[in-house]
Amino acid sequence: MQNITVEYIESMSYTDFVGFINQWNVLPGAFNTLSKWKVFSNLNEDSKILEIACTTGFSSRELAILSGCTGKAFDISKRSVEAAIENKKKYAPNIKIDYFVEDGYKFKSNERFTHIIIGASLKFFSRPEEMLKICLEHLEDGGFILASPFYIKSPIPESLIAEFKKVFGITPTRESYKDIMKMYKGLEVIYEERNDLIEETKEELEHYCHSTIKKVCKERKINSKELCDAMFKRLMNIKMMSNKLRPYQGYSVLVLRYRKNIYPDRYVELF
Ligand SMILES: C[S@@+](CC[C@H](N)C(=O)[O-])C[C@H]1O[C@@H](n2cnc3c(N)ncnc32)[C@H](O)[C@@H]1O
Repeated sequence: MQNITVEYIESMSYTDFVGFINQWNVLPGAFNTLSKWKVFSNLNEDSKILEIACTTGFSSRELAILSGCTGKAFDISKRSVEAAIENKKKYAPNIKIDYFVEDGYKFKSNERFTHIIIGASLKFFSRPEEMLKICLEHLEDGGFILASPFYIKSPIPESLIAEFKKVFGITPTRESYKDIMKMYKGLEVIYEERNDLIEETKEELEHYCHSTIKKVCKERKINSKELCDAMFKRLMNIKMMSNKLRPYQGYSVLVLRYRKNIYPDRYVELF
């Protein structure tokens, strides 16, 4: 077991840190997006879902609570999957979702799913088109892709991109709405809603960060104020950085249908 020090907290990769503090690293729109997906894709107890890049399990866990659906969810980060399993035990012990570690590019299964949840995670894959193709191979004919991708409404200044990269280790989405939608062009848009993002106040961010860090300190039995403060500081830094991008970003809530005898063509206009 790794000795937890301030240096360790500060040097972990962003994704490891998220798993370590068991951050409910949610998709754009959080519960709001899940509720729309449920209604507009008719997600119910007969649905079999697959969540890719599930982090600490938020979308699949909460959709299973909302709808009674069953299924699977994976992430490449071992720490995040461990947290997802703990979250299921603690917050949703009756749901039937299996969490496991997997690299999306290597995912193999003979099962076919009715819904594949990708949220905003495709852009965290170095080859998003390839990952989407793998998803379609595991989708039932007539099944749905549930996505909530970010796009930008106006260019993000280079200085902010550099600052973001320092905090997250990756660059944020820089594609326009039309560029993002290109990726989904073979799928039928059953439901779509475009949303703006509102910046959170410092008080709102502090409430969220305090709650999350109080929870992890309890879960991990960390009593050192120095360590808890270091985790709080890093999480606040992450959230403030995300906040700065909000005026430039929007996101779509998408329910996309895959029909074998239509894909990859389009017989309806986009209006
Ligand atoms: C920001 S989170 C996604 C959060 C949320 N599920 C959403 O929809 O926005 C991105 C996740 O992608 C995971 N990830 C990145 N590459 C991956 C891969 N090749 N296979 C599986 N998961 C991957 C990371 O570990 C991280 O947990």
